Amino acid sequence: MTRKNSDIDRVLIDEATIQQRVCELAHQVSEDYAEEDEVLLVGILKGAFIFLADLARQLQVRHAVDFMALSSYGLSGAASGAVRIIMDLRQPVEGKHVLLVEDIVDTGLTLDYLNKTLESRRPASLRSCVLLDKAARREVDVPIDYLGFEIPDVWVVGYGLDYADQHRTLPYIGVLRREVVSFDHQDR
Ligand code: IMP
Repeated sequence: MTRKNSDIDRVLIDEATIQQRVCELAHQVSEDYAEEDEVLLVGILKGAFIFLADLARQLQVRHAVDFMALSSYGLSGAASGAVRIIMDLRQPVEGKHVLLVEDIVDTGLTLDYLNKTLESRRPASLRSCVLLDKAARREVDVPIDYLGFEIPDVWVVGYGLDYADQHRTLPYIGVLRREVVSFDHQDR
């Protein structure tokens, strides 16, 4: 049964729909990397941890998992675009097939920064697998190789995504009630 939290206005994507789509994405990724020895899944903390866990367990290709954590300034607008690494990968990516796993692309600044940073480390290939895309908010044109769902410009939580570090473990993607949102937090 779907738990609906009182901070949630409505369920945007239910659990079964997410699971079905993650399964399709894993199938697509497995086919595309079938000829490679190994894929390095790079999960972006914290938001991607549940998506990555579900995706990875459905993959039919050999894979390793690593994580990065980023901090961004200016979600509330002040110094928009400054992204920095607060936890880097444990391993070099040179010569590896890297698949970035992200929860959501909003302005695109984070994914753009990650692409540039990891590309400079000379991986054999670099692609991205993103659960949600708020395309209407895009400021930087970034490629998304595997996409779960395009969503409207609303603040969503659940399935790894947070508001002020809350609601990450909801099994669905829900829209936060408007009264609950104030945009000075910067948690990922
Ligand atoms: P971007 O750099 O603007 O594309 O922002 C990407 C990051 O912003 C994501 O990794 C999330 O951490 C966060 N974010 C953007 N929109 C949402 C949302 O609706 N819910 C939760 N986090 C979000």
